[in-house]
Amino acid sequence: MQKIQQASMAAGASSTTMLAAAVAVLAVVVAVSFPLLRRLFAAGADERRRPLPPGSFGLPVVGQTLSYLRALRDNTAEDWLRRWSAAYGPVSRLSLFGGPAALVTGASANKFLFANTAVKSPESMSRMIGRRTIRDVTGDEHRRVRAMVVQFLRPDAVKRYVAGMDGEVRRHLDAEWRGRGSVAVMPSMKSLTFDVMCTVLFALGRDGDAATVRRDLSADFQQLVRGIAVVPLDLPFTAFRRCLAASRRGRRAVAGVIEQRRAGLARGERSPADDVVTGMLAEGLPDDEIIDNVMFLMIAAHDTTAALLTFLIRHLESNTDAYDKVVQEQEEIARSKAPGEALSWEDLGRMRYTWAAAMETLRLVPPVFNTARVMTQDVEFGGYLIPKGWQVIQATTMTQWDPAIFPEPGRFDPGRFEDPSAVPPYSFVAFGGGARICPGNDFARAETLVAMHYIVTRFRWRLAAGCDGSFSRFPLPYPAQGLLIDIEPIH
Ligand code: HEM
Repeated sequence: MQKIQQASMAAGASSTTMLAAAVAVLAVVVAVSFPLLRRLFAAGADERRRPLPPGSFGLPVVGQTLSYLRALRDNTAEDWLRRWSAAYGPVSRLSLFGGPAALVTGASANKFLFANTAVKSPESMSRMIGRRTIRDVTGDEHRRVRAMVVQFLRPDAVKRYVAGMDGEVRRHLDAEWRGRGSVAVMPSMKSLTFDVMCTVLFALGRDGDAATVRRDLSADFQQLVRGIAVVPLDLPFTAFRRCLAASRRGRRAVAGVIEQRRAGLARGERSPADDVVTGMLAEGLPDDEIIDNVMFLMIAAHDTTAALLTFLIRHLESNTDAYDKVVQEQEEIARSKAPGEALSWEDLGRMRYTWAAAMETLRLVPPVFNTARVMTQDVEFGGYLIPKGWQVIQATTMTQWDPAIFPEPGRFDPGRFEDPSAVPPYSFVAFGGGARICPGNDFARAETLVAMHYIVTRFRWRLAAGCDGSFSRFPLPYPAQGLLIDIEPIH
């Protein structure tokens, strides 16, 4: 792990790119400066009456945004936040992305943050994905949309998807791994998880028009995710403009799917339980809201799990004990199956060590680095006032890499998760917590286990020469060279 971190720090972003990013960020920050100054003055007024958290708002307007963005890109954001907390304590103030924020650390801070459900998505994300996603709505509306989404993600639904996931994984490995000497893991896993999602959640076919929709959507989403962590400058030749164009194409494609499903529903050929889009139509959601939610789900459902699979493969490569145990567990299951027989939900229940290894991967390299909430009223936490309108942010690794909670935190040790009840509450938060806890965790678990079953029983792998396993964040972790591995078939 230490090696990965050191290598990734060395990798860094080029100074030219950083300069361009700095100029772009500055432009945006200047654009939002007036509301920020108003809020900072308001914060100053509060400070005279009640204690605000210690810290600094940094340079006027810019705050700590540039330095934090650079650390995120260089994969040193963890150190950045730790230094900040060491200087100012477990509740501190800073200024990020054009607004005052409180950085809170520790398990009780996670609990405090997750109890608040008001979320403000980054402007870049809202403009690409939409403003009425499950993530952006609050209160009763959030409960309603969430209840509908959860119908498709809870264990009894995921149980029905296992055969479809099995088929997609085999098809992918046959087409993309078999007969090859090396594979770039991250692009491969992104394409696999995108296909799994299209098949089991959206019931998109593989023939005729459906195949075209699937292929175009995949290309557009590859482009679109690059825009989540960029400055939302819609100017000629900016990355953000290309992402917005991809978003418009994606939205048109989803609108087409909605029309087909509406017609299928009217003709009695489809039922609400068939797929997420038909389910949302039957629930009476307006088309715009369905599109926003489908766009969000498409992002949430595939890149996160692709990152988990990629880093699990990375960690198993350098931890032979854990690798041997995973192989043993999976081969035992393979031996109990007839040739060509698909995995079942019950088989997944027998993959306890493999899932513990996946959880340990999520502890070390959480796909979602931090979560943020917006205060809807003045709140006191840790003896300080956090005023209404401030963001509150936490970083997943602040507890997940805390030696007091996870001794020798840099060591890859799946044994920590063999008994999940031994993990203290709110210290492992890779799936978030509270009312917005990730509803896709059972889905992610099933998909990860099915994919790992076929990967470890069919292939051996080594990092390719020159691939050091380092990674940066965009904002999801992305390994250098996509994690290039040399592979060898087992049978
Ligand atoms: C390893 C894989 C995954 C990880 C690490 C992950 C992580 C997270 C985290 C940390 C949150 C909470 C964000 C917050 O509190 O602000 C979240 C929310 C969410 N995730 Fe996941 N996720 C994963 C896979 C999935 C999958 C496969 C799906 C769908 C099939 C999904 C759907 C969602 C949705 C809809 C939300 C928003 C929930 C709400 O606001 O009520 N996720 N995820």
